Amino acid sequence: MLSSMLFALIGVCLASATPLETSQSLKPRFCIKSETPVTACGVNNLTTENWNKFNIDTALIGFINTFGTSDNFPKFLVAQNTPTENPFTTFDCSKFGSTTCSIPALSNPDAASNCVFDGLSGTFCVDFITPEDGFIVQNYINLYQGLQNHYDATQDAANAITSSGFIKTMVEALAPQKTPISVGVFNLIADLVTDILPIGGEIKAAATFMKKIRLIIKATKSDLKDDSNDIISIIQNNAAIDKEVSADEAQLTQQLANMVTGTQSRLQKILDMIFGANQDPQLISDPTQIQNTYAFQNAQHGVFLDDVPQRADLAAQMQKQLQNWIVSSVLQAMSYDVTIDTTELADAPGEPGGVCKAENGFSAGGGCALFRINGIGSSGNIIDTKQQGNNIFALQTTAGMDIGVMIANAQACNSGNGGAATDFDDFLSMDNTNALPNCMFNFKVKVTQL
Ligand SMILES: *[C@@H]1O[C@H](CO)[C@@H](O)[C@H](O)[C@H]1NC(C)=O
Repeated sequence: MLSSMLFALIGVCLASATPLETSQSLKPRFCIKSETPVTACGVNNLTTENWNKFNIDTALIGFINTFGTSDNFPKFLVAQNTPTENPFTTFDCSKFGSTTCSIPALSNPDAASNCVFDGLSGTFCVDFITPEDGFIVQNYINLYQGLQNHYDATQDAANAITSSGFIKTMVEALAPQKTPISVGVFNLIADLVTDILPIGGEIKAAATFMKKIRLIIKATKSDLKDDSNDIISIIQNNAAIDKEVSADEAQLTQQLANMVTGTQSRLQKILDMIFGANQDPQLISDPTQIQNTYAFQNAQHGVFLDDVPQRADLAAQMQKQLQNWIVSSVLQAMSYDVTIDTTELADAPGEPGGVCKAENGFSAGGGCALFRINGIGSSGNIIDTKQQGNNIFALQTTAGMDIGVMIANAQACNSGNGGAATDFDDFLSMDNTNALPNCMFNFKVKVTQL
């Protein structure tokens, strides 16, 4: 059955001209097209929708069935499926910064006379032996480009945070005195590196790209465990830094740098899974198993054809999430909590929130939210400013935090009792469109009347 499907999908021009015939009769006399021929291959046509319409899954299955899989499967596929006269054997997306993760315009010289390329002249698909290959290869190029953009953006985001002095500003604003960073922060950073935090629900392409990757990785292999050594070494590095450096600022700066290298090495591992050594059986004896191969799953449904996340969008999003992380880390390290005073405050006319502000609180969470160090359960007057940072309002003015969103996030975390780990798994599930992971902020929240 599979072989008959194959025959149907590969358009074949039979009875092509012999060298003796005139150019007039070079046109094929008899031509079999696929039942779902590729009819469009412009830059705007290389879409998931068209992948399914043109049944590219079947073409890919057919290729794997005939040729098997191999190390660096996309490179293998390109070498096999570029024209025999001019095969492109140096296609390679296995390293970030690759200069050969693209296809030179080879133009299949037979395309002009082959009916399967009718209407496709000048498009990407004409670089290959069959037009279906154009869709498959573009999917792999997009996959690489999305990962490369993540790789660059991680560095961009960290650089932007470092050069803006954000860490210094926040530590100085929130710390009444120097306090060592807690072990909890080390664990938090380990989670961040494992899960590639810096994505969020606000940019669709950015949010879904990494989710798709995780879906594929999870569907086939519990790869996440492979990173445990990296994570341990990052934690150990941090522990060493903890002994040497007493200032929170230096620790956070170093952790940020570790996060960049940790995230980038993890991205390289993902790249290796797609463009590195073979993870599939080389030759597939049971055709029903083809759909379980990496070679197939990394391209199935043209999953990466739509929405390649852009470097600048990712960098902005990562910067925001990393800043969330820094603020959350500092709040946690300093043992901040939030008391929401629901007592009705007598604001002066025309100055809503004035009294709350005078008490160094934020009008948020349905009352006056007071960020205090170990404020919940303390015996003193919480409105008293002793337990607060130098400039608590920097949370809003410098960090640009939405205080209401932060408090709601912390309140929903372990019923406001704090301490629970940030939930990246749920954040990265396909249908989650939240801007923040649950428990991104895990300080305690207590609602009361003072
Ligand atoms: C191909 O793209 C063009 C625009 O570039 C569009 O007009 C056309 O409908 C597309 N065809 C298909 C089959 O997607």
